[in-house]
Amino acid sequence: MNDRIPLLIDTDPGVDDALALLMAFDDPWHEVVGLTIAAGNVGLRHTVANALKLCEVAGVDVPVYAGCASPLLHPARDAAYVHGRDGFGDTGYEPATREAAAEHAALALIRLSHEHAGRLLLVALGPLTNIALALKLDPTLPERIGRFVVMGGAVTAHGNITPAAEFNVAFDPEAAHIVFEAFARIDLADWEATVAHGFAHTGFEAWLRADSPRARFYDAISKQTREWSSDRRGDHWHSADALAMAFALEPDGALELIERPVAVELEGRHTRGATVVDWRREGGAADNCRILLRYDQARFEGRIRRALAAG
Ligand code: RIB
Ligand code: CA
Repeated sequence: MNDRIPLLIDTDPGVDDALALLMAFDDPWHEVVGLTIAAGNVGLRHTVANALKLCEVAGVDVPVYAGCASPLLHPARDAAYVHGRDGFGDTGYEPATREAAAEHAALALIRLSHEHAGRLLLVALGPLTNIALALKLDPTLPERIGRFVVMGGAVTAHGNITPAAEFNVAFDPEAAHIVFEAFARIDLADWEATVAHGFAHTGFEAWLRADSPRARFYDAISKQTREWSSDRRGDHWHSADALAMAFALEPDGALELIERPVAVELEGRHTRGATVVDWRREGGAADNCRILLRYDQARFEGRIRRALAAG
């Protein structure tokens, strides 16, 4: 057994997922033991194809496991308007030659939790459908997870897909509820932390000029999303999954954290999918989340730059 930390990433690639995956592939202290794929940003057929293609471009032979094609209960709209119809900027890339493994994502997640019991770093970058399904199949799953990092939520209800809710949680609130209830400790990188840790488009474009296949591929698949973001959000770009991945790979880069109980709203007409934080701990629930408030921006950006230049 090597002493690298086994890392399993549940993801719905998606342009920002792709950046997070490149960061994970580039980190020498972690071994990516699998990618479990969710529907979310775009449909499962595309998110699986995108994961396989990114692995091919990065030259990594990580198993890819297809997961659930839809939320547990209610259908949800995707984010193709941000990421492109195919989730990777509609570049028309040549599909990867490798196919996804036959094992379902939820079953792979359970199996890998046993193979790496107590050490597995689980990072969720998409809707939590696969992880919720795994929990229903095996409620003992959290006991074997070393650390669980989630990109999701909006801790003071500054959402990005509805006024109160963030996309990953809002896409499958029932799944998020199951997950937030089952895990005693979730390291949470929410949308508001994402917005607080943007980076200049001009600087990012300079990083994309690195002489590497990863940088060239990422430049192509992210162009549409970066233009969309620049039009709507100004001169800084925000990569939710990249921040969550930096927090996952380098937790001591977190400069400010707060632990609080967090619950997922399932009913509200205006608030379904909101992550409701009990800031004054009035409800008596245990603190199930360690919320990222501030991360070392220089370390964050350094990781992104190196991930693009790698290979
Ligand atoms: O709200 C941002 C999150 O939703 C990111 O993970 C993005 O990829 C989408 O999944
Ligand atoms: Ca994502």
